[in-house]
Amino acid sequence: MTTHDEAVPPAGERHSVVSGARPRVVLGVTGGIAAYKACELLRLLTESGHDVTVVPTESALRFVGAPTWAALSGKPVHTGVWDDVHEVPHVRIGQSADLVVVAPATADLLAKAAHGLADDLLTNTLLTARCPVVLAPAMHTEMWEHAATAANVATLRERGVVVVEPAEGRLTGADSGKGRLPEPAEIFELALEVLARGVPRADLAGRRVVVSAGGTREPLDPVRFLGNRSSGRQGYALARAAASRGAEVTLVSANVSLPDPAGVKVVRVETTGQLRDAVVGAAATADAVVMAAAPADFRPASVSGSKIKKAGDGSAAPLELEQNPDVLAELSRDRVRPGTIIVGFAAETGDDAGGVLDHARDKLARKGCDLLVVNDVSGGAVFGSDDNQAVILAADGSVVEVPLGTKAALAHVVWDEVARRFGT
Ligand code: CTP
Repeated sequence: MTTHDEAVPPAGERHSVVSGARPRVVLGVTGGIAAYKACELLRLLTESGHDVTVVPTESALRFVGAPTWAALSGKPVHTGVWDDVHEVPHVRIGQSADLVVVAPATADLLAKAAHGLADDLLTNTLLTARCPVVLAPAMHTEMWEHAATAANVATLRERGVVVVEPAEGRLTGADSGKGRLPEPAEIFELALEVLARGVPRADLAGRRVVVSAGGTREPLDPVRFLGNRSSGRQGYALARAAASRGAEVTLVSANVSLPDPAGVKVVRVETTGQLRDAVVGAAATADAVVMAAAPADFRPASVSGSKIKKAGDGSAAPLELEQNPDVLAELSRDRVRPGTIIVGFAAETGDDAGGVLDHARDKLARKGCDLLVVNDVSGGAVFGSDDNQAVILAADGSVVEVPLGTKAALAHVVWDEVARRFGT
């Protein structure tokens, strides 16, 4: 068993050095209860070196006051077009932005943006911005599903605006459903991706994909398990990237403590057996399956119903293991849905028997998958860092070298290779 995405520092530390001019981000905030979550998004953006101008609406200020935005961004905060008129802020702020993010975006803001209304500083900014725009809606389920909102979202997406799918869960009152603002850390990751790569193409629209992430845990007794240190970051980056390119994504997540990627169906599992069932089930209708998880290869032969006590005489611990299913090999062998592209990951080191690529080619053949993403971990690379360098080997013989870059960047190259094989 190997892990592909070991624990890494928090996002704020990873992106703290931005070379050259600081990217200019406009953070629009509209009047929804989730406005308080935008404070955390602002914090993530400023601490990672971005120059952030906050443009709240009048209604947003009823939830979180201007002093909070001013203190956190280090800049004055205005909502209307009549302050500092000599600086022409209604044009300048939008024109000079590298990215506009609106979080939360109410149904009202979506409607105004779709129709080009400009009655305050934020809507003026949206009209003058020529940079990528990310809108993160938050509202009650009925408002999100209303035909008017759906039409506005479709119009905005057609124009190249990134409209994030709201999350499901607890809403303002006691009710729950679709309409929650995705976690600030998730919107932050998406913002970084759009800043780095521009607005994603919708080349995976209409495709169903399954991604596994994290490390499985095999229970030993009620309080202990066998596990590994996989953080799930690479799998989550793959799921986020696929969703941003329009795919319908099922993420089978084993013991990961990261926020759910926006617009992704997350299925939580604990053991390799549960992961196998979830992945094989979802794969029956999938166009691609990417196995980025680190499933435990072995599990205790029996699970004790009570806590195992150490023997008083110091004798060896009774730990007998049996082998778990190899999910990747099973998917590749059974090919339940012909045409599904199956992708595996491998972390390899060279040894006396051969180099990294020799071992990787053996693994590609042994597992029978279509693509194998190979990390050379000889010098401890990958582990403990957010960056990844890889080679993607294909069963058809092609080799793609992926230079050192973020896990998000590697995720997009993997989807490029998958999409090429779909013929899109
Ligand atoms: N994998 C799997 N089921 C397992 C173990 C691994 O589906 N029980 C998948 C992983 O998700 C990954 C790939 O197989 O995509 C490679 O995993 P790795 O641990 O390198 O494979 P092993 O067969 O365990 O090879 P090794 O003998 O090198 O550990």
